[in-house]
Amino acid sequence: MVEIAPSILSADFTRLGEQIATVESAGAAYIHVDVMDGHFTPNLTVGPFIVEWVRKATKLPIDAHLMIENPDYFIGAFARSGANMISVHPETTYHLDRTINYIRQAGCQAGVVLNPATPLAMIEEVVANVDYVLLMSVNPGFGGQKFIPSSLDKLRRLRDLIRLKSSPARIEIDGGIAPDNAAEVALAGAEILVAGSAIFGAKDPAEALKKLLRAAESSGRVSA
Ligand code: DX5
Ligand code: ZN
Repeated sequence: MVEIAPSILSADFTRLGEQIATVESAGAAYIHVDVMDGHFTPNLTVGPFIVEWVRKATKLPIDAHLMIENPDYFIGAFARSGANMISVHPETTYHLDRTINYIRQAGCQAGVVLNPATPLAMIEEVVANVDYVLLMSVNPGFGGQKFIPSSLDKLRRLRDLIRLKSSPARIEIDGGIAPDNAAEVALAGAEILVAGSAIFGAKDPAEALKKLLRAAESSGRVSA
């Protein structure tokens, strides 16, 4: 099963509600929100305040990707703002297992995120206890970067690790996803494809989303 999570990082914020409605009716499965703090990531983006507005604009689950230091301080605020899924990078918290539990206690699905240079070993001990693993296929910080090809091999190794640990985790991929690599990543194990510029950077975001989904499905995996 392949699903698409449009990232609003590349959306037109002067008409955010309209852009979200467009991708929702085109078949998006989630709305991906990139949260950056200017410390862990060399960019600053949005916080719970914007998630509250996203919540008003859609019925889809909101997938909050936290690229911030001390995520424990903010989990409650994101959950109250309407996030349904919250993911954190292991480098940002001293006690990853505890942070995962906080996300669950806040009523959200819990995810862990691996940067391109972060080894799978960082999540080995917790992977059985997460709902999804997000693999970064660019270095976090900006939309519109180029897909790092070694991510394909890492996806396959992540799929093996998830099987080995009998984990229920779904695999999400984020960064540089476009119709030209959607089938490859889906074949390598990605089940949720995040895409920012490939959707919102296109003239017709609805058509771009459908094109991405068709490309992913050409791998032989069926969409939701
Ligand atoms: C990057 C973010 C991504 C970003 C993806 O730090 O995590 O979600 O929006 O953008 P594209 O699809 O343009 O690479
Ligand atoms: Zn993201």
